[in-house]
Amino acid sequence: MATAHIAAEPGDFAPAVLMPGDPRRAERIARTLMPDARLVTDVRGMLGFTGTVDGKPLSVLGSGMGMPSITIYAHELFAQFGVQRIIRVGTAGGISPQVGLGDVIVAVGAHTDSNMNQQRLAGLHFSAVASFELVRAAADAAVAGALDGQPTHIGMIMSHDHFYLPNSDPGWLPRLAQYGVLGVEMEAAALFGVAAEFGKQALAVLTVSDLLFDTAAQMTSDERETRFAGALRLALAAAHC
Ligand code: HPA
Repeated sequence: MATAHIAAEPGDFAPAVLMPGDPRRAERIARTLMPDARLVTDVRGMLGFTGTVDGKPLSVLGSGMGMPSITIYAHELFAQFGVQRIIRVGTAGGISPQVGLGDVIVAVGAHTDSNMNQQRLAGLHFSAVASFELVRAAADAAVAGALDGQPTHIGMIMSHDHFYLPNSDPGWLPRLAQYGVLGVEMEAAALFGVAAEFGKQALAVLTVSDLLFDTAAQMTSDERETRFAGALRLALAAAHC
C-alpha cells in the first residue's frame, strides 16, 4: 500500500536500499548497476528503482536534502516496505587535514547540531552510530582493494542543519577537525536515528566533494563520477553483506 511519500506496493523494495540525496543520481545509479531496474515510485519527483545486482535484489531511492527529508523516506521504508538496511551514498565537505578531495569516508557515527534525535528520547544526547556489520563490510571491501588506491577514511562525521549559516561561529570547523571529525554533510545522523528506532541497519558512504578549508580545490566532472563509483562499490558491499 502506498504511503504518504512513496507510491509503491509491498514487495516493491528490496531489503537493501541505496539512498543518494539527488533523485536523478538515484536513476543513474539504478541504470548503471541494474539492467533490470524498474521504477517503483516517483512521488514529488523522488525516483525509486528496484532490480538486481549479480542476482541479488537492490533498491535505490533519492532521499532529498537534509535530515527531515531523509527521515521521512527512511521511516516509510522501514515501517511499511520491509526494508532492513539503508546505505546513504552522498557527498561531504572535508574538514580533517587528512582528508583529500575525492577521498571516501565510511561514517561510523555522526555528531549533529540537529535536535531531531533528541526529540526521540526526551532530550537525551543520542549517539548516532552506523551499523557495525555494515561498517565492517565496507571497510573489508576497501581493504580488499575495491577502491583501487583511492584513499578511504573510517570515522566520525558531522551532520549539520544549515548549509548556509553566515553568522556561525568560525571556530567550530577547526574544533571539529581537532576532535577527529572527517567531514560534514546533512543527513547521516538522522538516518542512524531512524534505523535505531526500527531496529534496522544504516550506513553512510560519502565522497569528499569539496574541502571546507581550501575552497579553491575542485574536482572535474569526470573525477566526480569515477570517485563516486568507488564509494558505490563500498556501499554495494555493505548492501549485500
Ligand atoms: N556542508 C558543506 N560542504 C559540503 C556539504 C555540506 O553539507 N556536503 C558536501 N559538501
